[in-house]
Amino acid sequence: MNAGRQASIRKALLGWYRRSARTLPWRSTTDPYAIWVSEIMLQQTQVATVLPYYERFLERFPTITALAAASEEEVLSAWSGLGYYRRARALLAGAKKMIREFKATVPVAVADLMSIPGVGRYTAGAVASIAYHQPEPVLDGNIRRVLARLTGGRIRGDRTGADEAACWELAGGLVEGPDPGDLNQSLMELGATVCTAAEPDCRSCPVMRWCEGYASGNPGEFPVPAKRAAGVKVLAAVAVIGRGDKVLLEKPGDRSPLRGLWDLPALEHRNGADGSAELAAHLLDRHGLEVRSLTPGEEVSHGIMNRRIRLTVYHGTLARGRVAGRKELCWVEPDRLDVTPVSGATLKVLRAVLP
Ligand code: ADE
Repeated sequence: MNAGRQASIRKALLGWYRRSARTLPWRSTTDPYAIWVSEIMLQQTQVATVLPYYERFLERFPTITALAAASEEEVLSAWSGLGYYRRARALLAGAKKMIREFKATVPVAVADLMSIPGVGRYTAGAVASIAYHQPEPVLDGNIRRVLARLTGGRIRGDRTGADEAACWELAGGLVEGPDPGDLNQSLMELGATVCTAAEPDCRSCPVMRWCEGYASGNPGEFPVPAKRAAGVKVLAAVAVIGRGDKVLLEKPGDRSPLRGLWDLPALEHRNGADGSAELAAHLLDRHGLEVRSLTPGEEVSHGIMNRRIRLTVYHGTLARGRVAGRKELCWVEPDRLDVTPVSGATLKVLRAVLP
């Protein structure tokens, strides 16, 4: 893209961003720690979902030092329901690394940022530009789409080899200049609110005049959709074992991606399998617990990564076995769910079945 066109686009984006961007809490702070936390939370997660978590998390862990001193259990409970829990563990490990290697600060250089767990090129570019005003580009699905439309498909935005390099180069050219943090966020904002995947609202777009996708008459045709792996459908059975108003939770094994969280006892199963018998066998084999009368009830759907899980809830009570004093079992009261780190699926099932 030639320099004049690039400069015009930059100027239009920055002006539009200042006039029309949403007011978001991480946009009114200059604290690199808060900006790093926001960017980790915003990975694969929409702004509206992040908002309540962000403020609560910073109240609970206001500094790198406070976060580094927390237990994994505390951090996971602040994250409970936000999903992709690896990010919460990465934040804790990242804070500890910043204490050890960066004098309790968020590092400035992109290479140092990328040495922090959970920080890839996108997040490093976002933190470097927003917190430290460095002209470092960012590129995610939204921005790839904006660039594909802007160039009328010369950039495909399909994440393949040379095209990806061209995408980074164009994003890098645009961010070169004053206010790189605002410029990057203007691209994020445009992709999220105007140049959306479903329906680009070209009449509201600050860069319509320079957009080859718009000029083509069919901006929605860019980027050409990449073939997506089909989501995997999974059936599962989940046990809600009650005692008074309390519910039984277990800790998944160390190899589970949900390790560190509490979960309702659950099993994947095949179509036609007897969820009641399988859950009873699981509770007996793993915990020595005998259950009485597991009866099927509600159906709950849950999406995680590329999996669609249809959960059948089985209700029952304990006939025999001990829970007190066991590390991998607990009774939880519904009003303690917000201070107990539980998986998103467990939270969803409990919200569906508890009064
Ligand atoms: N997504 C990732 N980073 C963001 C930011 N700083 N503002 C809005 N959405 C984002």
